[in-house]
Amino acid sequence: MTGGIPEISDRAPGRGAGLSADLEALVDPAGRPDPYPVLRRLREASAHTASDGLVVVAGHADCSKVLRDPAMSSERDLFRLSPTARGPRTRNFIHLDPPDHTRLRRLVTKAFSPRVVAALEPRIRTLTEDLFRAAAERGRFEIVSDLAYPLPLQVICELLGVPVADHHLFQAWSAKLSEALEPPLPGLVAPRATGEAARARAEFIRYFSEVIAERRTSPRDDLVSQLIQVNENGDQLTDSELLATCILLINAGHETTVNLIANGVLALLRDPDALRLLRAEPELAGNTVEEVLRYDAPVQLTTRVARQDTAVGGTVARAGDMLLVLIGAANRDPQVFEDPDRFDIRRPRASQHLSFSAGAHFCLGAALARLEVRIAFELFATRVIDPRLTGEEIPYKPNLSLRGPDRLDVDFRDIKLPD
Ligand code: HEM
Repeated sequence: MTGGIPEISDRAPGRGAGLSADLEALVDPAGRPDPYPVLRRLREASAHTASDGLVVVAGHADCSKVLRDPAMSSERDLFRLSPTARGPRTRNFIHLDPPDHTRLRRLVTKAFSPRVVAALEPRIRTLTEDLFRAAAERGRFEIVSDLAYPLPLQVICELLGVPVADHHLFQAWSAKLSEALEPPLPGLVAPRATGEAARARAEFIRYFSEVIAERRTSPRDDLVSQLIQVNENGDQLTDSELLATCILLINAGHETTVNLIANGVLALLRDPDALRLLRAEPELAGNTVEEVLRYDAPVQLTTRVARQDTAVGGTVARAGDMLLVLIGAANRDPQVFEDPDRFDIRRPRASQHLSFSAGAHFCLGAALARLEVRIAFELFATRVIDPRLTGEEIPYKPNLSLRGPDRLDVDFRDIKLPD
């Protein structure tokens, strides 16, 4: 997800006032391997005003309410302590409110309808099998770079109609954008990361400006050409809206899915009974995707800005306050999920998680992500013989918002695929 990336300034919340010990523990990269004890304490203290201008929301009911509340804005610039953003900006619709949000989202939605996505299944299966086959030939499987990155990137590149050979560019630019995509809490975004994100955004803009210009003169059967041609009652996407949407789709469409694949393979390898069950009953792959989304959310948090004074739980968000919506905490709320810290691929109603958000900004790519990851989990469980984690410590990416391992090395006896 890209967009206005706030710089950390002296006016960021908590500066001077100090964050609570639990919020500081959450920000500390040392806690990445297991943030859930801290998230539990933050949920038990939720909702609360953590410092001037910052409200922490972590219970399922309150998070769900905030995400669905039209008084809660996605325009982060409304945050009354908002630091100014730097570098060329694109206004993508994840950071817009109605009516702009409604209009842009409607123009793009058709391309991600369940029917369009379901038709992609054979192609996604072939791509996934090829990645498993390549790992079998190499005799090594590093889940993050051999499966989790290439699969969603190849899919979104093919959909948009940009050369898959350029995927290393997108991967590098997206990583820079994600590093800076953190809530404006002190210590989360290094000043270096903000500058690198601005450069990455400029590269993305240059790249897609050329693609769009080219498709205007020679349309093809791809999403960029479709987005250019979309026309509803005379309404079309402007060039800058097109650019913002292409960048949003590339970025939102893969950093998140990468982490879902890696978090899921890790959860399965740490729970051999679950892996055995999935191997015996591959039709559980769909529910496994939901349970991984719930148990170890790839997007751990999002933010909103209160447009007006609003009661949230036992506290009040004042107009202009930022709300930190802790999805990772809501997903383990015992009020909604029984024995929430247990990984259970048969869990009924696992899909009540908030990992794709809720309300007007509910993830547009949810059906696509679910399909890609269902196939990846199914093949991992049924085709990889005797997979084992190598190494004790799992290194995590430094991000707080987008959570996932940096690498995940897996040993195996064999990978069996149809010829
Ligand atoms: C596991 C994978 C994914 C996760 C966990 C995820 C999560 C999310 C979340 C939490 C939001 C809403 C943020 C908010 O409310 O502030 C969102 C929005 C969005 N996602 Fe995803 N996403 C995933 C995959 C994808 C894919 C594959 C695509 C497209 C190819 C995509 C496209 C979008 C778009 C366009 C939005 C903006 C929707 C709007 O603002 O109306 N996402 N996603």
